[in-house]
Amino acid sequence: MDIKQVMGNRRSIRYFEPDKPVEREKIQYMLEAMNRSSRAVNADFVKTIVVFRDELDAEVLEQLKTPTTTAEIDMAPVHMFCYLDLSYTEGAQGRLKELVQLGALNASHGWSEAYVDEVVWATVLKPIASDPSILAYIGAIDAGVAINQGMLAAVDAGLGVCLHAFNTEVAKTALGVPDHWLPLHLLLVGYPAEDPLTGGQRPRRPLSTQCFVGNASTPWEEIPEVTEQLKKDGLIQDPVDAEKRRAEVKALAQRFGLPE
Ligand SMILES: Cc1cc2nc3c(=O)[nH]c(=O)nc-3n(C[C@H](O)[C@H](O)[C@H](O)COP(=O)(O)O)c2cc1C
Repeated sequence: MDIKQVMGNRRSIRYFEPDKPVEREKIQYMLEAMNRSSRAVNADFVKTIVVFRDELDAEVLEQLKTPTTTAEIDMAPVHMFCYLDLSYTEGAQGRLKELVQLGALNASHGWSEAYVDEVVWATVLKPIASDPSILAYIGAIDAGVAINQGMLAAVDAGLGVCLHAFNTEVAKTALGVPDHWLPLHLLLVGYPAEDPLTGGQRPRRPLSTQCFVGNASTPWEEIPEVTEQLKKDGLIQDPVDAEKRRAEVKALAQRFGLPE
């Protein structure tokens, strides 16, 4: 599928076919897409634990729920628990030197192995490495970039996905998570039981309310021809039709014995 179509087709899916297994091949495609994402200091911040729901203890499954993560945790056959490895600055100097050797970071821009040791490590990374709040902030951006690539790969593979909060203490014990892994989010994966396009895209505010040019108070003005082309290419799709969607959700609730 074209990338614009993939990005346009992605929705948060909350009704999964509970008994339709997800092929391990497709899971690996998602993991590899995550592993190809850009990353600060070329480190592996994000750790992912793939859990097949049916291998989880029923009580643990129940306890993983939160106020914003309920029936979907029972329905999704695959759970990907995402963590941030706070030890990720270890080895940063070596990885940066590798990038220098491979021509990714170049002398034209001031880089050398000595620059990595004497400037980048000494004045930028070393202070960060000892501050967990800064580490978490930088790492969370890395994680978002990686997780989104995994989500788009899933859509490309015909799967549905949704990011969720989860009970991190329960998961820590059940999955043997080390102390230095900071819990991020749970990515639920499965085949959609609902319309994969959920009847249309969820509301977004216009670019002019969020994007600016030159300074923080001059809104980005949309080029109408570009907007039209992106509609044709599938990135921008019709908004959800609430009435049709209500009927679909009602039928889904009846099918799965969920509250209407
Ligand atoms: C970081 C993150 C956390 C989220 N957590 C939850 C959640 O706990 N429960 C939930 O139902 N949806 C969650 N979502 C999904 C959003 O609510 C969803 O993206 C939003 O409704 C817009 O819909 P769309 O993703 O279909 O465009 C989360 C999304 C993101 C990116």
